[in-house]
Amino acid sequence: MDKLKITGGNPLQGEVFVSGAKNAALPILIASILTSEPLNIFNVPILKDIETTIYLLNFLGVNVHKSNDSLMLCADKVTKTEAPYDLVKTMRASILVLGPLLARFGEAHVSLPGGCSIGARPVDLHIKALEKMGAKVNIHNGYIEASTAHLPNKKLIGTKIFMDQVSVTGTENIMMAATLAEGRTLIENAAREPEVEDLGNLLIQMGAKIKGLGTDNIQIDGTPSLLGTNYKVMFDRIEAGTYMTAVAAAGGRIKLKNVNPSKMESIIEKIKESGALVHINDDQIEVIKSEDKILPVNIRTGVYPLFPTDMQAQFMALNALADGPSEITETIFENRFMHVQELVRMGAHIDVKGNTSFVKGVRNLDGANVMATDLRASASLVIAGLAAKGETIIERIYHLDRGYERIEEKLNQLGAKVERIQ
Ligand code: UD1
Repeated sequence: MDKLKITGGNPLQGEVFVSGAKNAALPILIASILTSEPLNIFNVPILKDIETTIYLLNFLGVNVHKSNDSLMLCADKVTKTEAPYDLVKTMRASILVLGPLLARFGEAHVSLPGGCSIGARPVDLHIKALEKMGAKVNIHNGYIEASTAHLPNKKLIGTKIFMDQVSVTGTENIMMAATLAEGRTLIENAAREPEVEDLGNLLIQMGAKIKGLGTDNIQIDGTPSLLGTNYKVMFDRIEAGTYMTAVAAAGGRIKLKNVNPSKMESIIEKIKESGALVHINDDQIEVIKSEDKILPVNIRTGVYPLFPTDMQAQFMALNALADGPSEITETIFENRFMHVQELVRMGAHIDVKGNTSFVKGVRNLDGANVMATDLRASASLVIAGLAAKGETIIERIYHLDRGYERIEEKLNQLGAKVERIQ
């Protein structure tokens, strides 16, 4: 299994091109199920989760042609309406095929994702919403079996759906299903994350009638069919935020290219609070960290536009080196502090009580052997390793490969010393 060897203590200097967003690309590729015409998708990051999505789409019968960062997808001959356990267990976002399969083919058999390392993460909201749109849903042998065979023309029926809790993939699943439903669907308390908006913009280009993207009330008027189109995936704000946090922790000066700073306000504010300078310029963000001292920043995660849970672990590594105490409260997922014990192995002082971590801040972290436990936890260990004294070996970096494109190459271009070893 691959490991990452990081020799810490080198400031980061230079430019980094931010990749397309994983969390936008996944639903966008899956939206190909909604039409028999080809979709050409650009700026697709090369990641393990994208490979898994392509595998799943191929399994369903979708034709996928790949060239560099673009994909051509055509779902004119879908042969299966099933997402098997083996695929869903490796990537929870596979649940996103549920809405599109049901809306276009009137049936879907999708494995329940089960537990995952950052908490229970149920999909009850996805199921309830589709039931409210008229689908019959049974849970059988660990599978969600959904059908619209009993409905007129086998079509889902638009209705008002109130989401008890803001859910990103829940909103995306319902939005995709509603594009081919009979009549109007209103999603109340919808997710406002930029990735949901990006999917919505693709669907509009495919001919869907959607209003209210970027707000918590999304209205979708169903249409009989959708068309093919060309679309460029938005930038990955979490990848960008991870590099910003890395320079805030390890020092140096980097310029991020291919970003939209207006989608990153909560992250930019916290980076500034930590004592780094941030210059914004159209589609670029420059981060400069020349002073030694890192200021502690308190974090409370929340739904967009609040501070993203996907950046919490990276800020823990930064706070671990701060000149004073800080508190990090996780409100979205239970059990998302597994990076804490690994950071402690590197010399961090962190106590966890309930959903809050109390970080004391130490002068230096020391390189150590640590284990990646999930995607963003791995990113926090990379940041700690870059800022630490000595050598850090991170094991199980397959987690990192799920969400960061060419991470060691990008970091080495910035002057870091990172090596992939066996
Ligand atoms: C998405 C992102 C993930 C990010 C998360 C929160 C993708 C592929 N993944 O995950 O990177 O960390 O949003 O921003 O976009 N919940 C329920 N019932 C449901 C659905 C969700 O109780 O049916 C709960 C979850 O357990 C969690 C909260 O709602 O506590 C938010 O989860 P959700 O927004 O659905 O996360 P994902 O869409 O899985």
